[in-house]
Amino acid sequence: MIRKCLFPVAGYGTRFLPATKSMPKEMLPVVNKPLVQYGVEEAIEAGMTNCAFVTGRGKRSIADHFDISYELEHQIAGSSKESLLSSIRDVIDHGVFTMVRQREMLGLGHAVLTGEPLIGPEPFGMVLSDDLCVNPGGPGVLGQMAELFRQFRCSIVAVQEVAPEEIHKYGVIAGESMRDGLYRVERMVEKPSAEEAPSNLAIIGRYILTPDIFDIIRETEPGASGEIQITDALQRQARDGCVMAYKFEGQRFDCGSVPGFVEATNHVYEHIYSD
Ligand code: G1P
Repeated sequence: MIRKCLFPVAGYGTRFLPATKSMPKEMLPVVNKPLVQYGVEEAIEAGMTNCAFVTGRGKRSIADHFDISYELEHQIAGSSKESLLSSIRDVIDHGVFTMVRQREMLGLGHAVLTGEPLIGPEPFGMVLSDDLCVNPGGPGVLGQMAELFRQFRCSIVAVQEVAPEEIHKYGVIAGESMRDGLYRVERMVEKPSAEEAPSNLAIIGRYILTPDIFDIIRETEPGASGEIQITDALQRQARDGCVMAYKFEGQRFDCGSVPGFVEATNHVYEHIYSD
């Protein structure tokens, strides 16, 4: 049973400036719910009720969101507006939330290592909340991956086929197909050009990581963009042991980009939101 999920949320969100000048990008609402809450709900649904945030300066509102707001709740108690708080109350009732601050942005691998004191020596999930994933009527993407972990006991990355012109934005895997939609990873490259990419299978922001990843990251040199990359650490894990890549069921929206964010908003408004 995986109990913990890491949320690296220290990034600046420059693509959404000026909206993100003084507000964390993870708090931008997709319809009426902050982006990060979708990820936390997915983790809790997968049984990962211990949510660990690697946060940074200017991100205090994330911690506040996953806490009680006495004044507000007292004010609207008994009114018709109370039901609007039910989703976040449910999350708060079922989850435990811990935070650590990342002082310098040295890459996703570094963010994971910063979260080590909150995770400890156990396998854990990781959600990059920029990626909003939905699978109506079925288990969430992290839940699907937790199920696979029970079988394989090794790190797992979620992957999706992407167009050649998109490939440079992602970590890309090459692997041996085990069965439909499941690969044993042989190689992974962070942000390759379309020509260099070993396949069109891009990693999206859902991971299950085994705790040996921490020691590997400690030994990982900066890679693409001069940052310590989780992809490079996973590549070593793949070489020495086992990493699986999983083509998940459901839909994923790239809310790290404005068009993806708008697409997610339209989708949630039409198919998920109810007032
Ligand atoms: C990160 C990872 C990359 C992955 C992507 C998914 O990149 O480094 O391997 O494909 O998330 O969203 P970022 O989007 O932080 O540049």
